[in-house]
Amino acid sequence: MTATETPLEAQLDDVSFDQMKRLCGLVEYDESKDPFPVKSLDALTFVVGNATQTALHYQVAFGMEVIAYSGPENGTRDHKAFVLKSGSARFVIKGGVTKDSPLLDHHRRHGDGVVDISLEVTDVDKCVEHARSQGATVLVEPHDVSDDFGTIRTAAIAAYGETIHSLVDRSRYEGPYLPGYLPQKGSYRKPEGAPKRIFQAVDHVVSNVELGKMDDWVSWYNRVMGFVNMAEFVGDDIATDYSALMSKVVANGNHRVKFPLNEPALAKKKSQIDEYLEFYDGPGVQHIALATNDILATVDALRTAGVEFLDAPASYYEDAELRARIGDVRVPIEELQKRHVLVDRDEDGYLLQIFFKPLGDRPTVFYELIERHGSLGFGKGNFKALFEAIEAEQHRRGNL
Ligand SMILES: [Fe+2]
Repeated sequence: MTATETPLEAQLDDVSFDQMKRLCGLVEYDESKDPFPVKSLDALTFVVGNATQTALHYQVAFGMEVIAYSGPENGTRDHKAFVLKSGSARFVIKGGVTKDSPLLDHHRRHGDGVVDISLEVTDVDKCVEHARSQGATVLVEPHDVSDDFGTIRTAAIAAYGETIHSLVDRSRYEGPYLPGYLPQKGSYRKPEGAPKRIFQAVDHVVSNVELGKMDDWVSWYNRVMGFVNMAEFVGDDIATDYSALMSKVVANGNHRVKFPLNEPALAKKKSQIDEYLEFYDGPGVQHIALATNDILATVDALRTAGVEFLDAPASYYEDAELRARIGDVRVPIEELQKRHVLVDRDEDGYLLQIFFKPLGDRPTVFYELIERHGSLGFGKGNFKALFEAIEAEQHRRGNL
C-alpha cells in the first residue's frame, strides 16, 4: 500500500497514514499477495474486575475518551462494556454484572487481562477460509450483525490460551463501535489546558506463551495470518544472571500489527515469563506498547496521574558503551534519566521507551510507551536493563 491510497487513513480518525508510518514504523508491501490482509488493530478488549472504575482510570490517567457503551441500560444484561479511544487506539473494557456472567469466571482465572485482540480486515470470509485451511480453530463463523448504524461482518479464531482474534469488516458500518453499542461520552471532564491525547496508537502487543511453544505460535501466525518474521532475539541477548526469555516478532505485511511472542528460557531463578504464566494461569498478553510523539510529556502526564513506571538501573545512563551507541537523540540525556526513559538505536534510527508497573493487582499485563525515530526495533539493547528492573520488582513480590 502506498501513502496515496486511503483505506487505512480513512479509519485512523485524525492520525494520518504518514503519522502512523512514523509512529509505528510502517513499511510498504504488496497487499494483493497477502492471504490474510489485515487493515489494522481494531480493538483490544479487556476483562477486568470493575469496568466502571477501570474506564475512569483510562480517562483520567491515560487521557482516553469514552465513545460508546453497552450494558444493562441498553439491553446487555450480564456485563458492562466501555469503549475508549486515543488517536487510532481503541480499548474495550468489560466487566461482569450478573453472578452467572462468563466474564466473572474468566476474571477469576486470569485477573484483569486482554481477551480479544481484534483485527480489522477487508474480507472476513477470505481470512477465515485461509485460517481454517491452515489448521486454525474457528470459534465464530463469519456472519452479519446489524443495527441502526449499519452492518458489520465478523468472525473469531482462537489464539494462545483463552485469547482470541475477532475479525471485523466495518466497511458498511457507521456506528461508534459495533452493533449493540450506543454512542456515549464519559462523565470525566479533562482539566483546562490538558492535551487532546497523550498517545496516538498501539504500536505492538506482546504475548507470553509456555516453554517450548514460541516457535509453534510464530509458525501459526506465519501460516494462519501470513505474518512475516521481524527481529529475533534469542539467548544471551535477553538474559540476566537470574532469568531469561526468548522472543520472536511477527507482523502483518505493512507492520501495522506487530506481535512479539515470548517464552521462558532456562535460568537460575524463576523468569518474569514464568511468573506471568503462573499468575495469569496460562499464556496471554504480557504488554501493550503505546506509541507517542512526545514521550517526556506523556510520562509526565501519567506520573502526575499516579501511574508508576519501572526505574532504569542508575548505571544505565553512565554506561560508556551505551552512551556511544545512543549518539544524538532529540532531548538531553539528563531529561531521559530524570524520567527513567530508555534509548535504543539500530541501523534504521533510534527509539525512546519506558515500561510501566502492572496496572492491575496481579503481576501480569503492563504497558510500554514508545517514541520511534526511524527504528523498527523493540528496544533489544534495553532488555537487560529492563529485566534487571523487573527482577527487582519480582524480588519485592517474593516471586524470584
Ligand atoms: Fe515492547
